[in-house]
Amino acid sequence: MAIRKVGVLGCGLMGSGIAEVAAKAGLETVVRELNQGFLDKGMARIHGSLAKAVEKGKLAAEERDAVLGRLSGSTGFEALADCDLVVEAIVENLDEKKSTYAALDKVAKPGAIFASNTSSLTVTQLAMATSRPERFVGLHFFNPVPVMKLVEVVRTLLTDEAVLADVNEFCRAIGKTPVACKDNSGFIVNRLLVPYLLDAIRALEEGVGSVADIDEAMKLGCGYPMGPFTLLDFVGLDTTYYIANIMFEEYREKRFAPPPLLKQMVQAGRFGRKSGRGFYEHSR
Ligand code: CAA
Ligand code: NAD
Repeated sequence: MAIRKVGVLGCGLMGSGIAEVAAKAGLETVVRELNQGFLDKGMARIHGSLAKAVEKGKLAAEERDAVLGRLSGSTGFEALADCDLVVEAIVENLDEKKSTYAALDKVAKPGAIFASNTSSLTVTQLAMATSRPERFVGLHFFNPVPVMKLVEVVRTLLTDEAVLADVNEFCRAIGKTPVACKDNSGFIVNRLLVPYLLDAIRALEEGVGSVADIDEAMKLGCGYPMGPFTLLDFVGLDTTYYIANIMFEEYREKRFAPPPLLKQMVQAGRFGRKSGRGFYEHSR
């Protein structure tokens, strides 16, 4: 496989999962975070996930040690200089992503492929912020990354065929199923999922049912693994709010507009599981 060393930008919810699955698949993996505190937190999440897998008998202790041996962390970009693929999973903000790619572009080797895990930004505008738009794709993973099988592979008008072949091979090598998507905001899944999640909040605002009852109804009535409020807390209300704003800006349709309650919860610091409180209380 052309991709042997993987860089991951951001070691939050998604970056830590992407780094974990890449290292588990035998690839040398390096993650970059903003500062040592965030890096330590992200690495602790990976250690915890691997420990759980060992506990459950899904991973041998020696294999866990080998995975950790393939994994390293950094707060600088230089550590990503010899990566074949860099997957960016930082905050869902266009300016932050553009400035991060500009810094990465200066140190990454000429043949490196850049990928974004963006949920809602169009990939073309990110690719054009680099000197290598033909080597740029969207690789949209799903949460929790170690469990969810899908990766949406997003090509732009400029993406090289050879790059697409390499990233599809990478997805299969890490145990995922790639699905090809056009470069539209939200790709396939979020184009359909985000209006549903936002509509659940609107239903709550209208008093259709309580948080617990709406969740129970969608679980038992539709066979979904989680109700919409459990899922919102799981994804992160901050991330959902950024996604909704970007999709509303793109489509100008009410179904993508962030409901006032979502905005207020984010302003109040209720981000869901990651902050200890969202629509539910979570012990941290
Ligand atoms: N890491 C590793 N493994 C995990 C895990 C994690 N974070 N969370 C759960 N698992 C594993 C468990 O170990 C368990 O494995 P075994 O069956 O082998 O023991 C399995 O997943 C099932 O877990 P649980 O029994 O604890 O709980 P569950 O049956 O409720 O499943 C779930 C948990 C897989 C998260 C399930 O509830 C689910 O699929 N929820 C919906 C998730 C979803 O919709 N994700 C997409 C979000 S949208 C997105 O990602 C895109 C975006 O841009 C916002
Ligand atoms: P998160 O808030 O859990 O993590 C983001 C991390 O990026 C933080 O740890 C932050 O310190 C770090 N970061 C910010 N700027 C950085 C930079 N310049 N360099 C390195 N690290 C930086 O967010 P998340 O949920 O992991 O989301 C990350 C990306 O993945 C977003 O684009 C989001 O839309 C997308 N995504 C999220 C989900 C989800 O369910 N949460 C699913 C699929 C895709």
